[in-house]
Amino acid sequence: MNEKIEKAFNDQINAELHSAYLYLSMAADFDGKSLGGFAGWMRAQAQEEVIHAMKFYDFINDRGGKVKLQPIKEVPTEWKSPLEAFKAAYDHECYISGRINDLMKLARDENDNPAINFLDWFVNEQVEEEATADEKVQELKLVGDSGPGLFMMDREMGQRVFTPPADGEEGA
Ligand code: FEO
Repeated sequence: MNEKIEKAFNDQINAELHSAYLYLSMAADFDGKSLGGFAGWMRAQAQEEVIHAMKFYDFINDRGGKVKLQPIKEVPTEWKSPLEAFKAAYDHECYISGRINDLMKLARDENDNPAINFLDWFVNEQVEEEATADEKVQELKLVGDSGPGLFMMDREMGQRVFTPPADGEEGA
C-alpha cells in the first residue's frame, strides 16, 4: 500500500478513536448530571466513531498495510452545559471534516483510486455528522435555560439507539 496513505490513514484511526473518547467523556459528564438521555446519545455517537476507526483499520489491512495504533490524546471531562458540549461536538466534527478533505487531497495527489472511493463514504458521512451536531446546538439554543425544555429534550435524545452496521453498510 502507498506509504503516505498508510501513515495518514493510521493517523485517522487515531483521530476517530479520539472522537470516540471525546464523546464518551461527554456521556460521562451527562451521566454525572442526571441527563441520561444526552448521555445515551453520546454513547451511541462514541460507538459510531469506533466503527469509523474500524473502517480505516480494515482498509489498511485489506490493502496489505500495517495498522499502528497510537496514544489517544487526553479529552476534557466537563462542559458547562449541554449547549457547550454540543457546540464543542460541532466544532470537532468540522475539524474531522477538514481532516477527511486533506486525506482526499492526498489520495488524489497519489492517484490512489481505492482510497478515493473509500473516502467518498466519509465525505458524505461528515455532511451528516456536522448537520446533526448543528441541529442539536440549534435545539439547545431554543430550549435555553428552561428546565422542562431540557427535561423533554433529554427524554427525546434517549430514544437514539446504536445499530452496528451489517458488513458493507453505512454506520447508524
Ligand atoms: Fe468519525 Fe464524527 O466523525
